Amino acid sequence: MEENRKEINPYEYMEYFMSQAAHVVSMDNNGKLNVMALLWKTIGELWMIPIITIAVSPARYTFELLTEGVPEFTINVPTEENVDTIDITGSYSGKNVDKFKKAGLEIIEGKRTKVPTIKDSLLSYECKIVHTCKSGRMASHSLFFGQILTAYASIKIINK
Ligand SMILES: Cc1cc2nc3c(=O)[nH]c(=O)nc-3n(C[C@H](O)[C@H](O)[C@H](O)COP(=O)(O)O)c2cc1C
Repeated sequence: MEENRKEINPYEYMEYFMSQAAHVVSMDNNGKLNVMALLWKTIGELWMIPIITIAVSPARYTFELLTEGVPEFTINVPTEENVDTIDITGSYSGKNVDKFKKAGLEIIEGKRTKVPTIKDSLLSYECKIVHTCKSGRMASHSLFFGQILTAYASIKIINK
């Protein structure tokens, strides 16, 4: 495991998870990765398991990967220093741009998922999709319910 982060209980440091945009990483069936900015997310317990729910529009390339690619995703909350990377992952499509390269994001192989996490994040979560549904009248987005298989916090917040 990387030295600058530690595995945590999924519900620790939740205050850093809420109300800020995160990077969602997804993967196609050939191992091609994508990363997208995402604000609409929740964390909590459902069906007696820890779950992160994300709302993704069908217009996103990420949507295509979540529905037709590897049924997993990771969520990565950037540090204050890296928060501008959200502008890049939230304004280009991975269909025609390598956003990892463009935003200078490095990855760490997943421990419990095929999908990697993003190096130097404040928080990262490896999730397996266990349920999907439409978000109904709220928006055209779909909801993806990811069982949290493991989670990490940067030592920056652990040592605070
Ligand atoms: C701050 C921010 C938050 C966003 N939150 C969401 C979100 O919760 N759900 C969503 O579907 N798109 C969201 N977006 C839009 C996508 O990130 C954007 O359309 C992105 O370019 C899609 O990338 P993709 O085509 O590679 O998947 C957000 C964008 C920004 C800048």
